[in-house]
Amino acid sequence: MTEKTFYISTPIYYPSNKLHIGHAYCTTIADTIARYKRLTGYDVFFLTGSDEHGQKIQRSAEEKGVSPQAYVDEIVDSFQKLWVSLNISNDDFIRTTEERHHKLVQHIFQKIYDKGDIYKSTYKGLYCTPCETFWLDRQLVDNKCPDCKRPVELVEEESYFFKLSKYQDRLLKHIEDNPDFIVPASRRNEMINFIKSGLEDLCISRTTFDWGIKVPIDHKHVIYVWFDALSNYITAPGYLDNKENFAKYWPADIHLVGKEIVRFHAIIWPIILMALDVELPKQIYGHGWLVIEGDKMSKSKGNVIDPVLLIEEFGADSIRYFLLREITLGQDGNFSRDALINRINSDLANDLGNLLHRSLSMIAKFNNGIIEKSGVTDEIDKSLLQLAESTIANYESFMDKNELNSAIKEVWSLISRANKYIDETMPWALAKNPENKERLNTVLYNLAETLRIVAVLIYPFMPSTSPKIWNQIGLSEDDFNKITFEDVKTFGKIPQNTKVNSPEQIFPRILVQEEPEETKEQPNTQKEEVVEENLITIDDFAKVDLRVVKVLEAKKVEKADKLLLLKVDLGTEQREIISGIAKHYEPDELIGKNVVMVVNLKPAKIRGIVSRGMVLAASNEDTLSLIEPLKELPPGSKVK
Ligand code: ME8
Repeated sequence: MTEKTFYISTPIYYPSNKLHIGHAYCTTIADTIARYKRLTGYDVFFLTGSDEHGQKIQRSAEEKGVSPQAYVDEIVDSFQKLWVSLNISNDDFIRTTEERHHKLVQHIFQKIYDKGDIYKSTYKGLYCTPCETFWLDRQLVDNKCPDCKRPVELVEEESYFFKLSKYQDRLLKHIEDNPDFIVPASRRNEMINFIKSGLEDLCISRTTFDWGIKVPIDHKHVIYVWFDALSNYITAPGYLDNKENFAKYWPADIHLVGKEIVRFHAIIWPIILMALDVELPKQIYGHGWLVIEGDKMSKSKGNVIDPVLLIEEFGADSIRYFLLREITLGQDGNFSRDALINRINSDLANDLGNLLHRSLSMIAKFNNGIIEKSGVTDEIDKSLLQLAESTIANYESFMDKNELNSAIKEVWSLISRANKYIDETMPWALAKNPENKERLNTVLYNLAETLRIVAVLIYPFMPSTSPKIWNQIGLSEDDFNKITFEDVKTFGKIPQNTKVNSPEQIFPRILVQEEPEETKEQPNTQKEEVVEENLITIDDFAKVDLRVVKVLEAKKVEKADKLLLLKVDLGTEQREIISGIAKHYEPDELIGKNVVMVVNLKPAKIRGIVSRGMVLAASNEDTLSLIEPLKELPPGSKVK
């Protein structure tokens, strides 16, 4: 059987500055695809690196008063550290200043020159140094670079030219014959129009600075930085010095790049390869941009987000999850701190964290930490199992189309279903009667098994959370290292009598800091207002909207021994409320209970959590009792 191989690359980033969240976004996407492919049995080559030559870098080094090499060494070191802390699993990291790359670039320049596709002439035209791009007069917008809107410089020098025009028709045909060569379709159309407007031969050498790879036949010239940089994709797998490896991985499956550099990858790069008689990559994927609170990221606006600080504050997996969940690949997406904290608190701490914590706590409490198998199943179990099955199938189909955010959303629908399964099966009630032991075991097993499946499915997205869940379920590290996508396709793989480890919070809630003084107090311990007149009218009473609500989840609030955080069902929506009843109720005993709540109370932020409502309780000096309707009523029923 031939081995399935998969080659994915990111752009090689400029070490002119430290990387920001946009770079981290692109590399995280590539990493997630690479990890998924490995999980599905591919032998993956995942490449990233740094694009170290060119006028821009030389100028930045001069400004700092250091040599270009010393300048890039320091910044590239920060790239590599960032990728380690973001859990990026690249197989190689290419630096264009490496010997292997110099040799390759000179070799291919010579080869194309010998073929007659490179010739010497004089270049007189415009150049944008920040983008390292040549522009024609007619392409400028308000006399500025159409990409970065900065001023361009007039360049006039002897140069070598590459015959792009010769390959124009062949390239156009290739793009038209291969609809998946450039994605998304909007980028493909742009490229088709660009090519149809006519390709000019490309200036591929410069003489007015020297930080670059020398033209092999003429050492006065350095090779144009994009010709140099694009070739990295064949240097690394070994076009020149490891033919066997090159044959194994080339053509690349996906060159993932930002939308602004699709043009270089979809025009110059394929033509270099055509001139070399090398097969073209299968796909150029142009992803969208990350904007910050709706605004383009830029140093001058001071809104550049440093991924290192974010990872330190929130952890790598939270950042990865946010970027992959929030943004549709191919479209622009917004980054905001509030949205990040929201995702962490609701999806990670609440949905996933609670499912894990509740399930394992119940296995520990009701079955001494042992997961036991039992054959009993009823309709509720079946619906959970069916959803697990359809989640896996949908996830696979989305992942195969690189629709990462749709795939991860599927996993969250399974997580929500499993949380609901707890509310429906009420294991704490089953545990009260030994006759229900079989049923209890089934429920607990199904929960553990759902968590195992979730652990595998989130692995490409959150590679350090996944083994933590695996380990808490009590499964072996050895087995984790061998997991494949096939493992999720069978429900029921947790061995009989697996002993769970003690549950630990994997995603603590992020406390929002700005807590206005006046709202600090919890609603149901607010000081009594002194009222002169004790009587109210019926209209006064009608202002209070009292409803029956069902408690779905309950847990202690960290570092607040009086407070419980409740998630309640109002029939039409779910809400979180904080209640000062922790001294009187264990969280477990409240789950599934119907209680009465004031639902139109002004929200209050307590310990960083927004509490939206207040449950009613009666109390005397030492007892406090929540108010429960005497008959079973659906959540949302009005109390009047
Ligand atoms: O262009 N949102 O390097 P570069 C999302 N060296 N992604 C972003 C982004 C944002 N706001 N900003 C940057 C170069 N990126 C060349 C590449 S490849 C042979 C040479 C990501 O450091 C995105 O992937 O300017 C974009 O294409 C890339 O960083 C540009 O990085």
